[in-house]
Amino acid sequence: MTGRIAGLGSYLPKRIVTNDDLAAIVETSDEWIQERTGIAQRHISDPLVEKPSYMAGIAAQRALEDAGIDGSEIDLIVVSCTTPDKVIPTMACCVQEAVGADGCGCFDINSACPGWLAAYNTAQSFIESGNCSKALVVGVECLSNFVDWEDRGTCILFGDGAGAAVLVADESASKNRFIMHATYNKAECLTAEARMQPKRWEEEGFLKSTMFQMNGRDVFRFAVTEVPKIITELSEKYSFDLNDIDLFILHQANARIIETIAKRLGQDISKFPMTVYDTGNTSTASIPSLMDRLKKEGKLVKGQKIVLSSFGGGLTWAANYIEY
Ligand code: ACO
Repeated sequence: MTGRIAGLGSYLPKRIVTNDDLAAIVETSDEWIQERTGIAQRHISDPLVEKPSYMAGIAAQRALEDAGIDGSEIDLIVVSCTTPDKVIPTMACCVQEAVGADGCGCFDINSACPGWLAAYNTAQSFIESGNCSKALVVGVECLSNFVDWEDRGTCILFGDGAGAAVLVADESASKNRFIMHATYNKAECLTAEARMQPKRWEEEGFLKSTMFQMNGRDVFRFAVTEVPKIITELSEKYSFDLNDIDLFILHQANARIIETIAKRLGQDISKFPMTVYDTGNTSTASIPSLMDRLKKEGKLVKGQKIVLSSFGGGLTWAANYIEY
């Protein structure tokens, strides 16, 4: 048995922050941001209401609704998140309460932006080993809490949001096919220190180090080098032809990164759907929420061959091949 994606859901905060809004607080412009990233706006959460646990809960409820499944039927919840509002209980336990899945297994995963793929692959392993039959896999991020709003190099990139999928064990679903990698080389090009470190508050600059620190050029180079490589590796490992792929659903970090990856793979850009222009980079939430949007628009349909791939801090990167 392997999990079939039976339902998808997502949540984006109500407040929209445009590039012009950002130009009022840092020295930048709509033209610069759009040209370098393809981003026109992002959704930023209300810190008192739209916390990660809240956004994850709503995305999960919507995915269950889409699947036509009651929360009580779920026997595993895995949430990927790097920016939780609570460490204990876990985000997965918060989702459990939101969907009424009392008693099921719950845990969180942190693998930066590819975290949702790590959560998906973990849930699939539970299903394939016979340890669960209906799983919720959620990706949620509230990056606005970890962005330095004085740093124009990073604050223009990120947005908040959540995405979720329901997996249902199905004999006819093909086996889960994926590759995951990480390297400590160049880890320093994307970092955020944990805030809860005794005594560190007394150090000068500690608070800044808990916000995203990024060398944009190194991250760009890493993404456009490693993502085409891992997708090619995936196609060789599982013997499929990239030309037969209907959709490449990539981490929505930057339109230029996605365009470069498409070119390096020799694939038409029309196979690479994007939401980055109106959501910004929502990290681990970006792939499931893009899938949800594609399904609602009728562009994600049964039988399609799909490659999912993401990259992020760690450095980490991953790719999946699915027959939807
Ligand atoms: N507005 C105007 N000017 C800016 C801005 C801004 N928002 N940000 C930087 N600049 C300036 C710089 O100060 C620099 O000026 P200088 O030449 O006078 O020194 C100039 O623009 C060029 O800066 P670069 O950083 O070299 O610009 P680059 O073309 O590399 O674009 C960007 C920067 C958009 C961040 C790019 O490097 C990038 O997209 N990198 C990948 C980032 C990413 O995707 N990160 C997240 C991935 S992982 C995850 O999701 C957590």
